[in-house]
Amino acid sequence: MRIDVLTLFPKMFDGFLSESILGKAIDNNLVEIKIINYREFSKSKHKKVDDSPYGGGPGMVLCVEPVYDALMSIKGQEKALKILVTPQGKTFHQEKAYELRDKEHIIILCGHYEGYDERIRDLFDLEVSIGDYVLTGGEIAAMALIDSITRLIPKVINKDESHIFDSFNDYLLEHPHYTRPSEFRGKKVPDVLISGNHKLIKEWRENESIKRTKERRIDLYNKYREEHGDE
Ligand code: ADE
Repeated sequence: MRIDVLTLFPKMFDGFLSESILGKAIDNNLVEIKIINYREFSKSKHKKVDDSPYGGGPGMVLCVEPVYDALMSIKGQEKALKILVTPQGKTFHQEKAYELRDKEHIIILCGHYEGYDERIRDLFDLEVSIGDYVLTGGEIAAMALIDSITRLIPKVINKDESHIFDSFNDYLLEHPHYTRPSEFRGKKVPDVLISGNHKLIKEWRENESIKRTKERRIDLYNKYREEHGDE
């Protein structure tokens, strides 16, 4: 998979792309990520990429021209899936992450102003929000997308494909986990997990998963019940 990110703050991606699982995925050529500063495509003397809104009002609006030129500079852009990150987009979720990991080429635009010139929207296929709150810019949203998509690419996370058991698959949150010590400040690991009885452990985990989802995310729990009925 190839991902191109259009941003005004390329340095924000430095640590993100070099550390941990993503850094390894890039080193192992499982994903190729290119960061493009679209300010470089501004034709103005001071490399301006924003301007005041027609009709007046506060704030600045991102201009369409540098974004268009930056987009056109990307090889193969015509076939790529083009995503605009914005709080006005559809809320991102795990199912979408699975859908996007099968794409060959994705382009993500990060904004940093009051808004986008509406004609920028026409250049993109999809508008995505990472939640109902407003960030100062799209970079963190782009990173959230890239991280959640990349970790689903085969071989990025180790051999046992542990993401299959992630929260949200099958609409359930993950069950609680424990590791050593078996007792910490009077709090003990549930006996069943130490019992060695794999059938009981599986049952306990499923029940805890359902209980936790019902307590914390009734919306997900209801979806789960729709799929599974009253088993
Ligand atoms: N840019 C600013 N806030 C955002 C959000 N919540 N999601 C995506 N992009 C954003």
